[in-house]
Amino acid sequence: MAKEKPAETPVVTIEQVGKHEGAEVVLRGWLYNLREAGKLLFPIFRDGTGVIQGVVSQKEQPGVFESLRGLTQESSVIVTGRIRAEHRAPGGYEISVTALEIVQRVPESDPYPIQLKEHGVDFLLDRRHLWIRTPRQAAVLRLRDEAIRAAREYMNSQGYTLTDAPIFTPAACEGTTTLFEVQYIDDEKAYLTQSGQLYVEATAMALGKVYCFGPTFRAEKSKTRRHLTEFWMLEPEAAYANLDDMMALGEGLVSHIVQSAVKNRARELETLKRDTAKLTAVKPPFPRITYDEAIEILQKRGNPAKWGDDFGGDEETILSSQFDRPLIVHRYPAAIKAFYMQPDPQRPELALGFDMLASEGYGEIIGGGERISSYDLLVQRLRENHLPEEAFQWYLDLRRYGSVPHAGFGLGLERTVAWVCGTEHIREVIPFPRMIYRVYP
Ligand code: 4AD
Ligand code: MG
Repeated sequence: MAKEKPAETPVVTIEQVGKHEGAEVVLRGWLYNLREAGKLLFPIFRDGTGVIQGVVSQKEQPGVFESLRGLTQESSVIVTGRIRAEHRAPGGYEISVTALEIVQRVPESDPYPIQLKEHGVDFLLDRRHLWIRTPRQAAVLRLRDEAIRAAREYMNSQGYTLTDAPIFTPAACEGTTTLFEVQYIDDEKAYLTQSGQLYVEATAMALGKVYCFGPTFRAEKSKTRRHLTEFWMLEPEAAYANLDDMMALGEGLVSHIVQSAVKNRARELETLKRDTAKLTAVKPPFPRITYDEAIEILQKRGNPAKWGDDFGGDEETILSSQFDRPLIVHRYPAAIKAFYMQPDPQRPELALGFDMLASEGYGEIIGGGERISSYDLLVQRLRENHLPEEAFQWYLDLRRYGSVPHAGFGLGLERTVAWVCGTEHIREVIPFPRMIYRVYP
């Protein structure tokens, strides 16, 4: 009879160790921390899916003890050991290490720069490529992934087709003051896209219900906790849709993102110490008020806003704090909104647009509404806004050939994820943030 091959020790992730209680496993990762207590060592290993505490006794594992002792933080290691339930340990399990392979030892002369203590944010941002290794940052990035996954899932369930927009564009979409100009081939100029909207308007006329989802760029000179110069936007657009359709779609999309995070990423939300009761409440219907009503609320709270003003962070925070779920504000004055917004036939000084303000002071996460479908009115608006008509001829074609009422919106991914995570600043929710004065690393 052939001799049975001994079963190999399985390589598992820290996330999965619960399934291997009592068994020997191999973990591949990094040394996150090491506590030395006489004849015992308590390493903490991380592998990107979680952290686990280990124990090594000098008496039982003298070889492992010697190689682990003094090992530097973030050295890469392959660890073999037995998994034990240990309710006092972070994650609920512990590993009794039986073998240790050091893949790369971080030299003592050049230690890992991020210690397990508080660092200033500029220090951390300069080392963003390393900062993302800390469990908190990894949890944030997993929540970002979940938000993207859930958003795509929702758009798909509503019959929307992904049709991505270009990044090099010939003209502005959201005002000329925040355009990034790039030198294109030869002497031609191009701009980094501020929004894929104009292009999804075209694909909506071809496919009906569409969306794009990609990076967008704004030369934002403002240094706030809500502005990046490069951020991701999900932009649905639908032929024959109106303002109400888009408010309902936005409400459904945001609820699905938030509920998916609560359901599928409970561990990460716990790592972030996020109050999930506030997230669980995020279900349709969301409160809806008009811009006129918003002005009234602000004035009642003693804010100096007057009709015709645009809202800044302060105003958004006052408004959203009146409600336990995101707030939809619709029908803003046309004068403070983009050139393409359809006027309200009842009151042409208003635009059939809406913003969605996240709860807990996270500000505007969605902007959108109905688009102008009349050729003549669109030409008039381009002129009023001093936009180059030449560059918009293709966009005007959409009004020349079978123009229909249509609507859409843009959801800012980072603002949404920052709110879900409860982070102070949106720079933490993108792997490598781009901001005024920061394009490194
Ligand atoms: O309100 P905005 O400027 O709308 C548009 O760009 C439309 N063309 C979208 C459309 O209708 N298809 O931007 C939409 C969202 C904002 O609500 C906000 O969440 C986010 O994009 N956003 C930013 N996020 C981070 N940093 C910035 N500088 C942002 N500017 C806008
Ligand atoms: Mg906006």
